[in-house]
Amino acid sequence: MKVLWNEQIIDESKVKIDLEDRGYQFGDGIYEVIRIYDGCMYMEKEHLDRFWESAQKIRMTLPFTQVELSQRLHRLANEVGIENGRIYFQVTRGVAKPRLHDFPDSAVVQPVLLADIQPVSRPSVKQNLGIRAGFVEDRRWLHCDIKSISLLGNLLALDEAKQKGFEEAVLLREGFVTEASASNLWMVKDGILYTHPDGQLILPGITKMKIRELTKALGIEVKEVAFTKKELLAADECFKTSSVAEIVPIIEIDKQKIGDGMPGKVTKRILKAYIEAIN
Ligand code: PDD
Repeated sequence: MKVLWNEQIIDESKVKIDLEDRGYQFGDGIYEVIRIYDGCMYMEKEHLDRFWESAQKIRMTLPFTQVELSQRLHRLANEVGIENGRIYFQVTRGVAKPRLHDFPDSAVVQPVLLADIQPVSRPSVKQNLGIRAGFVEDRRWLHCDIKSISLLGNLLALDEAKQKGFEEAVLLREGFVTEASASNLWMVKDGILYTHPDGQLILPGITKMKIRELTKALGIEVKEVAFTKKELLAADECFKTSSVAEIVPIIEIDKQKIGDGMPGKVTKRILKAYIEAIN
């Protein structure tokens, strides 16, 4: 499979990762995942904007403009020719020798860009049936708004949920629900949609942005306020959102049914509007 490595599109076997690449040694880098539907990168501009925000938050100067990066990503997409999938791209701070914790001089060390495209099918089965999740303590750091490649906190949370037999982790920080391991989290109570406000404790999702727009058009009230584990267990519906998962109902948490334990009415309305928006 062909990948993008800095400015070149080459076979993945030809990529050389330096052992002193700061991404490899420190997880010092940022990434994005964009969904491709019928050959189009969905909400590309919003993803690129968030990528630049992440770069600024980690004090990294990107060695290309948004237009240049977009052109490179499209070049790869044309070359690979996958109509429905996802594009993953990351930039690490680059190769700095010897290994030192200090950020290297950005005038000397060039960030390293990598992108690849994989086919992904729409998660219709999960969307129709819903998934079962478990509560896990949110022990990640206080920069969850940065789309950092250092995802160990998220991976540990997902693994903890999986070890208990659940498909997903619903993260709890000081009793409040933040998000899921790689998605934003929502609940519906008495027809109102609730989700955690943006800030340092969650990733500001691009799908979340879309849901704000769709619910406005559907006349569904949205409150971006933190809610507790108890409030979530007493909710009528729950679902998670991400570029890859789109909208997936969560029908049980810690073996307790949410509402009647089936994908809810409001969730289905929003999912229908989401699917119409991508077509
Ligand atoms: N995950 N919260 C976290 C912690 C995430 O990792 C993601 C995305 C989201 C949803 O963001 P968006 O709607 O912009 O995809 C929320 C991606 C898909 C991943 O890591 O693969």
